[in-house]
Amino acid sequence: MMYTAILPAAGSGTRMKANKNKLLLELGGKPVFIHTLEVFEADPACRSIWLAVKPEEQRIMEEEIKRFGLKKVYGLTGGGKERQDSVRACLEAIPACEVVLVHDAARPFIRQGTIRRLAETAAQEGAAIAAVKVKDTIKKAENGLVSETVDRDSLWMIQTPQAFRYSLLLEATRSANEDGFLGTDESMLTERLGYPVRIVESSYENIKITTPDDLIYGKAILEQRRQ
Ligand code: C5P
Repeated sequence: MMYTAILPAAGSGTRMKANKNKLLLELGGKPVFIHTLEVFEADPACRSIWLAVKPEEQRIMEEEIKRFGLKKVYGLTGGGKERQDSVRACLEAIPACEVVLVHDAARPFIRQGTIRRLAETAAQEGAAIAAVKVKDTIKKAENGLVSETVDRDSLWMIQTPQAFRYSLLLEATRSANEDGFLGTDESMLTERLGYPVRIVESSYENIKITTPDDLIYGKAILEQRRQ
């Protein structure tokens, strides 16, 4: 199933405590976001990649894309204040297509197999999101005191990619924008309109580079993959 990829890359990355966008930090000789782009570049099912970037970072990102010989990045769109705004800007800019797949540029270890399963499931069912099972025991607490232990059998940690029929995500995104609804992922926008969302089991390696520790885990994943 051919798909169009939207990669939000316009975050500020304050939790990384670096003096620049964490996506421009080097990981195994390449900026973080280049690793992510390379996965989509190598996937024959990926028609084109649309990147949401901060206007002041557009030039440096374009230079890096050129330096690493990437050819599938069609559009760089100005990112918004929130991640949801960045995705919406891309979605409004891309040509109509059957399936659109949204993936954090900060998740460089996504596997092509997961992407394929998501795109195929979204084409059949409307929406599909990558997730892994919760490993730890989960409790709710109020003022530091445990109030409840949650049954973890039905709990999933949600990642990206999240894949959708283009028309469905466009409807959900426009509706959220009109209602001033802010979600923490794209799936929430379609859920609130009552559309079913299918979970596709992903990998614990699909981490989001967020804090300095993640660069250490990231280097370990890269080394292990190179063996
Ligand atoms: O901040 P966080 O890592 O959770 O953001 C997830 C992804 O969304 C990152 O790739 C980041 O660059 C992107 N983002 C964006 N626009 C924002 C905030 C985050 O494109 N306003």
